[in-house]
Amino acid sequence: MQKGFELFEFVQKGDERGHLVVIEGLKDVPFEIKRIFYIYGSDGNVIRGQHANRKSEFVLINIAGQSKVRIDDGQGNETVVALERPHIGLYIPRMLWKEMYDFSLDSVLLVLSSEYYDADEYIRDYNTYVSEIKNA
Ligand code: TYD
Repeated sequence: MQKGFELFEFVQKGDERGHLVVIEGLKDVPFEIKRIFYIYGSDGNVIRGQHANRKSEFVLINIAGQSKVRIDDGQGNETVVALERPHIGLYIPRMLWKEMYDFSLDSVLLVLSSEYYDADEYIRDYNTYVSEIKNA
């Protein structure tokens, strides 16, 4: 089975004014947060991601709407995680293949990352990914 991905439940600091979720690097997620980005406006028939990262770790949070994430370890094991709650984060360590899909119209998928963007640490070809896993 895949190792290392995990669901985090963040504390909801709710009161009569609404909810507030705080995420601090190295406290609520296991890395310093160097980068955030968010994905919205993706149709339900779009597949995003389709890559693995040699260096970056991520936490994905659907802060609005919902989507699904398929995680594949390159050794024949895959898991699908539905993200649909703004205080639940999916931690994805380096070197797992991931695909995001089934976006609802209102989906806003927030991504926290341990690294600055570096296109060279992305593996975008599945066969290359599998062979790097085999040779690891
Ligand atoms: P891409 O990695 O294809 O997005 P996804 O994994 O969600 O399918 O990124 C889309 C474009 O944005 C691509 O041209 C690279 C660029 N990009 C950055 O410049 N910096 C970033 O941090 C990210 C995630 C993407």
